[in-house]
Amino acid sequence: MNVRGNFHWTERRTGGQSPSRLTIVAMRTQVGIVGSGPSGLLLAQILAQHGIESVIVESRSREYVEARIRAGVIEHGAVDVLTEYGVGERLHKEGLRHDGVYLQWPGHRERIDFVESCGQSVWIYGQTQLTKDLVNARLAGDQQIHWEVSQTRIQDADTDHPRITFRDASGHPRRIDCDYIAGCDGFHGVSRNTIPESIRMVAQRAYPFSWLGILADVPPSTDELIYAWHPDGFALHSMRSTDVSRLYLQIAADDNVTNWPDERVWEALSTRFALDGWTLTSGPTLEKSVTPMRSFVSAPMRWGRLFLAGDASHIVPPTGAKGLNLAIADVNKLAAALVRAIQDGRDDLIDSYSDDALRRVWQATHFSWWMTSMLHTPPDADPDAAFLRQMQITQLAYVTSSHTAATGLAENYTGAVLPY
Ligand code: FAD
Ligand code: PHB
Repeated sequence: MNVRGNFHWTERRTGGQSPSRLTIVAMRTQVGIVGSGPSGLLLAQILAQHGIESVIVESRSREYVEARIRAGVIEHGAVDVLTEYGVGERLHKEGLRHDGVYLQWPGHRERIDFVESCGQSVWIYGQTQLTKDLVNARLAGDQQIHWEVSQTRIQDADTDHPRITFRDASGHPRRIDCDYIAGCDGFHGVSRNTIPESIRMVAQRAYPFSWLGILADVPPSTDELIYAWHPDGFALHSMRSTDVSRLYLQIAADDNVTNWPDERVWEALSTRFALDGWTLTSGPTLEKSVTPMRSFVSAPMRWGRLFLAGDASHIVPPTGAKGLNLAIADVNKLAAALVRAIQDGRDDLIDSYSDDALRRVWQATHFSWWMTSMLHTPPDADPDAAFLRQMQITQLAYVTSSHTAATGLAENYTGAVLPY
Protein backbone atom coordinates (compact mmCIF):
# COMPACT_ATOMS: atom_id res chain seq x y z
CA MET A 1 0.00 0.00 0.00
CA ASN A 2 1.20 3.52 -0.72
CA VAL A 3 0.16 6.60 1.23
CA ARG A 4 -0.40 9.77 -0.73
CA GLY A 5 0.52 12.99 0.99
CA ASN A 6 -2.34 14.63 2.86
CA PHE A 7 -0.59 17.23 4.92
CA HIS A 8 -2.06 20.40 6.33
CA TRP A 9 -0.25 23.10 8.22
CA THR A 10 -2.31 24.83 10.90
CA GLU A 11 -1.44 28.33 12.01
CA ARG A 12 -1.06 28.78 15.77
CA ARG A 13 -0.98 32.33 17.09
CA THR A 14 0.04 33.50 20.50
CA GLY A 15 -2.53 36.15 21.28
CA GLY A 16 -4.22 38.62 18.91
CA GLN A 17 -4.91 38.09 15.23
CA SER A 18 -2.16 40.27 13.81
CA PRO A 19 -0.03 38.32 11.30
CA SER A 20 3.04 39.61 13.10
CA ARG A 21 1.94 37.59 16.17
CA LEU A 22 1.99 34.37 14.18
CA THR A 23 4.49 32.25 16.06
CA ILE A 24 4.31 28.76 14.69
CA VAL A 25 2.71 26.74 11.97
CA ALA A 26 1.99 23.18 13.06
CA MET A 27 1.03 19.86 11.51
CA ARG A 28 0.58 16.24 12.57
CA THR A 29 2.10 13.07 11.26
CA GLN A 30 2.54 9.49 12.40
CA VAL A 31 6.33 9.37 12.16
CA GLY A 32 8.51 12.50 12.10
CA ILE A 33 11.90 11.81 10.55
CA VAL A 34 14.96 14.01 11.09
CA GLY A 35 17.46 13.67 8.22
CA SER A 36 17.16 12.61 4.59
CA GLY A 37 20.27 10.47 4.28
CA PRO A 38 19.82 6.80 3.41
CA SER A 39 18.40 6.01 6.90
CA GLY A 40 15.65 8.63 6.87
CA LEU A 41 14.71 8.16 3.22
CA LEU A 42 14.54 4.37 3.40
CA LEU A 43 12.58 4.43 6.64
CA ALA A 44 10.04 6.77 5.02
CA GLN A 45 9.85 4.50 1.97
CA ILE A 46 9.22 1.32 4.01
CA LEU A 47 6.61 3.06 6.16
CA ALA A 48 4.84 4.43 3.08
CA GLN A 49 4.69 0.93 1.60
CA HIS A 50 2.89 -0.13 4.79
CA GLY A 51 0.48 2.79 4.57
CA ILE A 52 2.11 4.82 7.36
CA GLU A 53 2.53 8.54 6.90
CA SER A 54 5.77 10.36 7.70
CA VAL A 55 7.37 13.77 7.23
CA ILE A 56 11.11 14.32 6.74
CA VAL A 57 13.02 17.44 7.74
CA GLU A 58 16.50 17.90 6.27
CA SER A 59 19.00 20.69 6.93
CA ARG A 60 20.66 20.55 3.50
CA SER A 61 19.34 21.14 -0.01
CA ARG A 62 18.19 18.30 -2.26
CA GLU A 63 21.13 18.99 -4.63
CA TYR A 64 23.65 18.73 -1.78
CA VAL A 65 22.16 15.51 -0.39
CA GLU A 66 22.06 13.85 -3.82
CA ALA A 67 25.64 14.81 -4.67
CA ARG A 68 27.33 13.67 -1.43
CA ILE A 69 29.87 10.98 -2.38
CA ARG A 70 30.19 8.27 0.23
CA ALA A 71 29.58 4.53 0.29
CA GLY A 72 29.86 2.15 -2.61
CA VAL A 73 29.43 -1.40 -1.30
CA ILE A 74 25.98 -2.78 -0.52
CA GLU A 75 25.51 -6.13 1.17
CA HIS A 76 23.35 -8.85 -0.31
CA GLY A 77 20.81 -8.56 2.56
CA ALA A 78 20.61 -4.78 2.13
CA VAL A 79 19.93 -5.24 -1.60
CA ASP A 80 17.10 -7.61 -0.67
CA VAL A 81 15.56 -4.94 1.59
CA LEU A 82 15.84 -2.26 -1.12
CA THR A 83 14.32 -4.62 -3.67
CA GLU A 84 11.46 -5.64 -1.40
CA TYR A 85 10.50 -1.99 -0.85
CA GLY A 86 10.59 -0.98 -4.49
CA VAL A 87 13.90 0.88 -4.75
CA GLY A 88 16.14 -1.84 -6.18
CA GLU A 89 15.31 -1.56 -9.87
CA ARG A 90 18.18 0.69 -11.00
CA LEU A 91 20.59 -1.02 -8.61
CA HIS A 92 19.88 -4.34 -10.33
CA LYS A 93 20.35 -2.73 -13.76
CA GLU A 94 23.39 -0.55 -13.15
CA GLY A 95 25.03 -2.04 -10.04
CA LEU A 96 27.95 -4.46 -10.28
CA ARG A 97 27.77 -7.74 -8.38
CA HIS A 98 31.09 -8.66 -6.80
CA ASP A 99 31.69 -12.22 -5.66
CA GLY A 100 35.05 -11.58 -4.02
CA VAL A 101 37.73 -9.13 -3.00
CA TYR A 102 41.53 -8.91 -3.25
CA LEU A 103 43.82 -8.46 -0.24
CA GLN A 104 47.30 -7.27 -1.15
CA TRP A 105 50.68 -6.76 0.52
CA PRO A 106 54.06 -6.36 -1.20
CA GLY A 107 54.59 -9.22 -3.66
CA HIS A 108 51.11 -10.72 -3.05
CA ARG A 109 47.55 -10.16 -4.28
CA GLU A 110 45.22 -12.88 -2.98
CA ARG A 111 41.51 -13.23 -3.70
CA ILE A 112 38.87 -14.12 -1.12
CA ASP A 113 35.93 -15.76 -2.83
CA PHE A 114 32.73 -14.75 -1.02
CA VAL A 115 30.42 -17.11 -2.85
CA GLU A 116 32.61 -20.12 -2.30
CA SER A 117 33.22 -19.14 1.36
CA CYS A 118 29.70 -18.23 2.46
CA GLY A 119 27.38 -18.25 -0.53
CA GLN A 120 26.80 -14.47 -0.68
CA SER A 121 27.96 -11.46 -2.74
CA VAL A 122 28.00 -7.68 -2.43
CA TRP A 123 26.90 -5.01 -4.90
CA ILE A 124 28.78 -1.95 -6.06
CA TYR A 125 26.32 0.92 -6.33
CA GLY A 126 27.08 4.47 -5.24
CA GLN A 127 25.30 5.97 -2.26
CA THR A 128 24.64 9.01 -4.46
CA GLN A 129 22.63 6.83 -6.85
CA LEU A 130 20.77 5.11 -4.03
CA THR A 131 19.95 8.49 -2.49
CA LYS A 132 18.55 9.72 -5.82
CA ASP A 133 16.43 6.57 -6.15
CA LEU A 134 15.04 7.06 -2.63
CA VAL A 135 14.32 10.78 -3.10
CA ASN A 136 12.59 10.06 -6.42
CA ALA A 137 10.47 7.32 -4.84
CA ARG A 138 9.48 9.67 -2.03
CA LEU A 139 8.53 12.55 -4.29
CA ALA A 140 6.74 10.26 -6.77
CA GLY A 141 4.55 9.15 -3.86
CA ASP A 142 3.72 12.82 -3.15
CA GLN A 143 5.38 12.50 0.24
CA GLN A 144 6.97 15.41 2.05
CA ILE A 145 10.61 16.35 2.53
CA HIS A 146 11.32 19.77 4.02
CA TRP A 147 14.75 20.75 2.66
CA GLU A 148 17.10 23.37 4.10
CA VAL A 149 15.50 23.57 7.53
CA SER A 150 17.39 25.05 10.49
CA GLN A 151 17.23 25.05 14.28
CA THR A 152 15.82 21.49 14.38
CA ARG A 153 14.84 20.41 17.89
CA ILE A 154 13.16 17.29 19.23
CA GLN A 155 10.88 17.97 22.18
CA ASP A 156 8.99 15.83 24.69
CA ALA A 157 10.41 12.62 23.23
CA ASP A 158 9.83 10.87 26.57
CA THR A 159 6.11 11.68 26.52
CA ASP A 160 3.27 10.46 24.27
CA HIS A 161 3.19 13.77 22.35
CA PRO A 162 6.71 14.18 20.93
CA ARG A 163 7.33 16.93 18.40
CA ILE A 164 9.91 18.33 16.05
CA THR A 165 10.34 22.09 15.81
CA PHE A 166 12.39 23.84 13.14
CA ARG A 167 12.62 26.87 10.87
CA ASP A 168 11.67 26.20 7.27
CA ALA A 169 13.80 27.29 4.29
CA SER A 170 12.28 30.78 4.51
CA GLY A 171 13.02 31.06 8.22
CA HIS A 172 9.43 30.55 9.43
CA PRO A 173 8.98 28.55 12.66
CA ARG A 174 7.22 25.21 12.23
CA ARG A 175 6.20 22.30 14.40
CA ILE A 176 5.38 18.69 13.62
CA ASP A 177 3.40 16.77 16.23
CA CYS A 178 4.25 13.09 15.89
CA ASP A 179 3.32 9.70 17.27
CA TYR A 180 6.97 8.64 16.96
CA ILE A 181 10.21 10.35 15.93
CA ALA A 182 13.12 8.75 14.06
CA GLY A 183 16.52 10.40 14.52
CA CYS A 184 18.21 9.70 11.18
CA ASP A 185 20.36 12.83 11.15
CA GLY A 186 23.84 11.31 10.99
CA PHE A 187 26.79 11.75 13.29
CA HIS A 188 26.55 15.55 13.55
CA GLY A 189 22.78 15.72 14.00
CA VAL A 190 20.74 16.77 17.03
CA SER A 191 18.82 13.54 17.77
CA ARG A 192 21.46 11.62 19.71
CA ASN A 193 22.08 14.52 22.09
CA THR A 194 18.36 14.76 22.81
CA ILE A 195 18.80 11.59 24.87
CA PRO A 196 19.98 12.58 28.36
CA GLU A 197 23.68 11.90 28.91
CA SER A 198 22.86 10.12 32.15
CA ILE A 199 21.26 7.22 30.28
CA ARG A 200 23.68 7.05 27.33
CA MET A 201 26.72 4.80 27.04
CA VAL A 202 29.32 5.91 24.49
CA ALA A 203 32.17 3.69 23.29
CA GLN A 204 34.59 5.21 20.81
CA ARG A 205 38.03 5.12 19.26
CA ALA A 206 39.77 7.69 17.07
CA TYR A 207 42.40 6.30 14.69
CA PRO A 208 45.69 8.18 14.03
CA PHE A 209 45.02 8.35 10.27
CA SER A 210 42.43 9.48 7.72
CA TRP A 211 41.41 8.47 4.20
CA LEU A 212 42.03 10.69 1.22
CA GLY A 213 39.42 9.64 -1.35
CA ILE A 214 39.29 10.45 -5.06
CA LEU A 215 36.66 9.84 -7.68
CA ALA A 216 38.38 9.43 -11.06
CA ASP A 217 37.04 9.51 -14.58
CA VAL A 218 38.85 6.34 -15.61
CA PRO A 219 37.76 2.71 -15.94
CA PRO A 220 38.81 0.66 -12.90
CA SER A 221 42.14 -1.18 -13.30
CA THR A 222 40.65 -4.15 -11.44
CA ASP A 223 37.55 -6.34 -11.69
CA GLU A 224 37.04 -6.46 -7.88
CA LEU A 225 38.08 -4.21 -4.97
CA ILE A 226 41.72 -4.29 -3.86
CA TYR A 227 42.54 -3.64 -0.19
CA ALA A 228 46.32 -3.07 -0.13
CA TRP A 229 48.69 -3.02 2.83
CA HIS A 230 51.93 -1.14 2.10
CA PRO A 231 54.73 0.23 4.32
CA ASP A 232 53.75 3.75 3.11
CA GLY A 233 50.14 3.18 4.19
CA PHE A 234 46.90 1.47 3.16
CA ALA A 235 45.30 1.96 -0.26
CA LEU A 236 41.90 0.86 -1.61
CA HIS A 237 40.89 0.53 -5.24
CA SER A 238 37.12 0.64 -5.54
CA MET A 239 34.79 1.78 -8.32
CA ARG A 240 31.41 3.25 -9.06
CA SER A 241 30.84 1.73 -12.51
CA THR A 242 32.80 0.19 -15.36
CA ASP A 243 33.84 3.78 -16.29
CA VAL A 244 34.46 5.49 -12.97
CA SER A 245 37.01 4.56 -10.27
CA ARG A 246 36.98 5.37 -6.57
CA LEU A 247 40.33 5.16 -4.78
CA TYR A 248 41.53 5.86 -1.26
CA LEU A 249 44.89 6.45 0.45
CA GLN A 250 45.74 6.29 4.15
CA ILE A 251 47.13 9.68 5.20
CA ALA A 252 48.07 11.10 8.61
CA ALA A 253 45.14 12.31 10.72
CA ASP A 254 46.46 15.90 10.63
CA ASP A 255 47.15 15.91 6.85
CA ASN A 256 44.80 17.65 4.43
CA VAL A 257 43.66 17.69 0.83
CA THR A 258 45.75 20.71 -0.20
CA ASN A 259 48.91 18.63 0.32
CA TRP A 260 47.71 16.12 -2.27
CA PRO A 261 47.75 17.43 -5.84
CA ASP A 262 46.61 14.84 -8.40
CA GLU A 263 50.15 13.91 -9.45
CA ARG A 264 51.13 13.04 -5.88
CA VAL A 265 47.92 11.03 -5.36
CA TRP A 266 48.46 8.88 -8.47
CA GLU A 267 52.14 8.37 -7.66
CA ALA A 268 51.28 7.17 -4.14
CA LEU A 269 48.50 4.92 -5.47
CA SER A 270 50.87 3.38 -8.07
CA THR A 271 53.48 2.70 -5.38
CA ARG A 272 51.04 1.16 -2.92
CA PHE A 273 49.25 -1.04 -5.51
CA ALA A 274 52.47 -2.05 -7.35
CA LEU A 275 52.47 -5.68 -8.48
CA ASP A 276 54.51 -7.37 -11.24
CA GLY A 277 52.55 -7.55 -14.49
CA TRP A 278 49.78 -5.13 -13.38
CA THR A 279 49.45 -1.39 -13.95
CA LEU A 280 47.18 1.22 -12.47
CA THR A 281 45.65 3.51 -15.08
CA SER A 282 45.31 7.10 -13.91
CA GLY A 283 42.78 9.67 -15.13
CA PRO A 284 41.17 13.03 -14.37
CA THR A 285 40.07 13.48 -10.77
CA LEU A 286 36.40 14.45 -10.36
CA GLU A 287 36.39 14.87 -6.58
CA LYS A 288 38.85 14.71 -3.71
CA SER A 289 38.08 14.67 0.03
CA VAL A 290 39.40 13.53 3.41
CA THR A 291 37.51 11.32 5.86
CA PRO A 292 38.66 10.96 9.48
CA MET A 293 38.56 7.41 10.84
CA ARG A 294 36.48 6.76 13.93
CA SER A 295 34.60 3.99 15.70
CA PHE A 296 31.69 5.27 17.79
CA VAL A 297 28.64 3.64 19.36
CA SER A 298 26.02 5.40 21.49
CA ALA A 299 23.50 3.16 23.27
CA PRO A 300 20.60 2.80 23.77
CA MET A 301 19.11 3.61 20.36
CA ARG A 302 15.73 4.51 21.86
CA TRP A 303 14.50 7.04 24.37
CA GLY A 304 10.73 7.11 24.87
CA ARG A 305 9.23 7.76 21.43
CA LEU A 306 12.56 8.76 19.83
CA PHE A 307 14.45 6.06 17.90
CA LEU A 308 17.96 6.52 16.46
CA ALA A 309 19.07 4.84 13.24
CA GLY A 310 22.28 4.83 11.18
CA ASP A 311 25.16 7.24 11.74
CA ALA A 312 23.11 9.17 14.33
CA SER A 313 23.87 6.32 16.69
CA HIS A 314 27.06 4.67 15.39
CA ILE A 315 30.05 5.29 13.12
CA VAL A 316 32.53 2.74 11.82
CA PRO A 317 35.78 3.35 9.92
CA PRO A 318 34.97 2.67 6.23
CA THR A 319 37.47 -0.21 5.87
CA GLY A 320 34.74 -2.81 6.37
CA ALA A 321 32.21 -0.98 4.08
CA LYS A 322 29.62 -1.26 6.83
CA GLY A 323 28.13 2.20 7.57
CA LEU A 324 25.44 2.32 4.91
CA ASN A 325 24.61 -1.35 5.43
CA LEU A 326 24.13 -0.83 9.16
CA ALA A 327 21.85 2.11 8.41
CA ILE A 328 19.73 -0.10 6.13
CA ALA A 329 19.61 -2.91 8.72
CA ASP A 330 18.59 -0.44 11.48
CA VAL A 331 15.72 1.09 9.54
CA ASN A 332 14.46 -2.27 8.34
CA LYS A 333 14.09 -3.30 12.01
CA LEU A 334 12.76 0.10 13.09
CA ALA A 335 10.14 0.16 10.33
CA ALA A 336 8.89 -3.31 11.31
CA ALA A 337 8.68 -2.19 14.95
CA LEU A 338 6.78 1.02 14.12
CA VAL A 339 4.37 -0.79 11.79
CA ARG A 340 3.56 -3.28 14.56
CA ALA A 341 3.10 -0.53 17.17
CA ILE A 342 0.99 1.74 14.92
CA GLN A 343 -1.13 -0.88 13.16
CA ASP A 344 -1.44 -3.64 15.80
CA GLY A 345 -0.95 -1.63 18.98
CA ARG A 346 1.83 -4.02 20.04
CA ASP A 347 5.03 -2.59 21.53
CA ASP A 348 7.15 -5.76 21.64
CA LEU A 349 9.32 -4.81 18.63
CA ILE A 350 9.78 -1.18 19.61
CA ASP A 351 10.80 -2.40 23.07
CA SER A 352 13.43 -4.76 21.62
CA TYR A 353 14.57 -2.46 18.75
CA SER A 354 17.64 -1.04 20.48
CA ASP A 355 19.01 -4.42 21.63
CA ASP A 356 18.21 -6.08 18.27
CA ALA A 357 19.89 -3.32 16.25
CA LEU A 358 22.91 -3.13 18.56
CA ARG A 359 23.74 -6.82 18.05
CA ARG A 360 24.52 -6.12 14.39
CA VAL A 361 26.12 -2.75 15.23
CA TRP A 362 28.64 -4.34 17.61
CA GLN A 363 29.44 -7.15 15.15
CA ALA A 364 30.10 -4.61 12.38
CA THR A 365 32.03 -2.36 14.77
CA HIS A 366 34.31 -5.28 15.63
CA PHE A 367 34.79 -6.27 11.98
CA SER A 368 35.51 -2.69 10.88
CA TRP A 369 38.03 -2.25 13.70
CA TRP A 370 39.67 -5.58 12.80
CA MET A 371 39.95 -4.77 9.08
CA THR A 372 41.26 -1.30 9.91
CA SER A 373 43.85 -2.69 12.33
CA MET A 374 45.04 -5.32 9.83
CA LEU A 375 45.45 -2.94 6.89
CA HIS A 376 46.60 0.48 8.15
CA THR A 377 50.28 0.82 8.90
CA PRO A 378 51.10 2.38 12.27
CA PRO A 379 52.90 5.73 12.29
CA ASP A 380 56.75 5.45 12.28
CA ALA A 381 56.78 7.19 15.65
CA ASP A 382 54.91 4.25 17.23
CA PRO A 383 57.54 2.37 19.26
CA ASP A 384 55.78 -0.91 18.37
CA ALA A 385 55.63 -0.11 14.62
CA ALA A 386 58.05 -2.85 13.46
CA PHE A 387 56.23 -5.47 15.54
CA LEU A 388 52.76 -4.34 14.47
CA ARG A 389 53.68 -4.36 10.75
CA GLN A 390 54.92 -7.93 11.01
CA MET A 391 51.70 -8.93 12.81
CA GLN A 392 49.63 -7.34 10.01
CA ILE A 393 51.45 -9.22 7.25
CA THR A 394 51.16 -12.46 9.22
CA GLN A 395 47.41 -11.87 9.63
CA LEU A 396 46.99 -11.12 5.90
CA ALA A 397 48.89 -14.30 4.96
CA TYR A 398 46.72 -16.32 7.36
CA VAL A 399 43.36 -14.88 6.33
CA THR A 400 44.11 -15.53 2.64
CA SER A 401 45.45 -19.06 3.15
CA SER A 402 43.10 -20.56 5.73
CA HIS A 403 39.64 -21.43 4.41
CA THR A 404 38.19 -20.93 7.89
CA ALA A 405 39.78 -17.50 8.34
CA ALA A 406 38.75 -16.43 4.82
CA THR A 407 35.18 -17.53 5.57
CA GLY A 408 35.16 -15.34 8.70
CA LEU A 409 36.12 -12.33 6.61
CA ALA A 410 33.64 -13.20 3.84
CA GLU A 411 30.74 -13.72 6.28
CA ASN A 412 31.36 -10.34 7.88
CA TYR A 413 32.08 -8.42 4.68
CA THR A 414 28.96 -9.68 2.92
CA GLY A 415 26.89 -9.30 6.09
CA ALA A 416 25.93 -12.96 6.09
CA VAL A 417 26.48 -13.41 9.84
CA LEU A 418 23.35 -11.74 11.19
CA PRO A 419 19.82 -11.53 9.77
CA TYR A 420 18.55 -8.15 8.52
P1 FAD B 1 23.79 10.47 6.81
O1 FAD B 1 24.07 9.94 5.46
O2 FAD B 1 24.85 11.25 7.49
O3 FAD B 1 22.48 11.36 6.70
C1 FAD B 1 22.04 12.19 7.75
C2 FAD B 1 21.23 13.35 7.18
O4 FAD B 1 20.73 14.15 8.24
C3 FAD B 1 22.06 14.27 6.30
O5 FAD B 1 21.41 14.46 5.07
C4 FAD B 1 22.18 15.54 7.11
O6 FAD B 1 22.30 16.69 6.29
C5 FAD B 1 20.89 15.52 7.91
N1 FAD B 1 20.92 16.31 9.15
C6 FAD B 1 21.96 16.44 10.01
N2 FAD B 1 21.62 17.22 11.03
C7 FAD B 1 20.34 17.60 10.82
C8 FAD B 1 19.43 18.43 11.53
N3 FAD B 1 19.79 19.02 12.68
N4 FAD B 1 18.19 18.63 11.04
C9 FAD B 1 17.82 18.03 9.86
N5 FAD B 1 18.65 17.23 9.16
C10 FAD B 1 19.88 17.02 9.61
N6 FAD B 1 29.17 2.63 4.26
C11 FAD B 1 29.03 1.42 3.64
O7 FAD B 1 28.15 0.65 4.05
N7 FAD B 1 29.81 1.00 2.59
C12 FAD B 1 30.80 1.79 2.14
O8 FAD B 1 31.47 1.41 1.16
C13 FAD B 1 31.03 3.06 2.80
N8 FAD B 1 32.01 3.87 2.37
C14 FAD B 1 32.14 5.11 2.92
C15 FAD B 1 33.14 5.91 2.46
C16 FAD B 1 33.31 7.17 3.00
C17 FAD B 1 34.43 8.03 2.49
C18 FAD B 1 32.42 7.64 4.03
C19 FAD B 1 32.56 9.03 4.61
C20 FAD B 1 31.41 6.83 4.50
C21 FAD B 1 31.26 5.56 3.97
N9 FAD B 1 30.26 4.71 4.41
C22 FAD B 1 30.15 3.47 3.85
C23 FAD B 1 29.34 5.13 5.49
C24 FAD B 1 27.98 5.64 4.97
O9 FAD B 1 28.16 6.64 4.00
C25 FAD B 1 27.14 6.18 6.15
O10 FAD B 1 27.14 5.21 7.16
C26 FAD B 1 25.70 6.52 5.73
O11 FAD B 1 25.67 7.71 4.98
C27 FAD B 1 24.79 6.69 6.95
O12 FAD B 1 23.52 7.13 6.54
P2 FAD B 1 22.59 7.97 7.51
O13 FAD B 1 21.36 8.27 6.74
O14 FAD B 1 22.47 7.28 8.81
O15 FAD B 1 23.40 9.32 7.80
C1 PHB C 1 33.81 2.88 -1.76
O1 PHB C 1 33.65 2.41 -2.90
O2 PHB C 1 33.60 4.07 -1.53
C2 PHB C 1 34.27 2.01 -0.67
C3 PHB C 1 34.43 0.66 -0.91
C4 PHB C 1 34.86 -0.16 0.12
C5 PHB C 1 35.12 0.37 1.36
C6 PHB C 1 34.93 1.72 1.60
C7 PHB C 1 34.50 2.55 0.59
O3 PHB C 1 35.56 -0.45 2.34
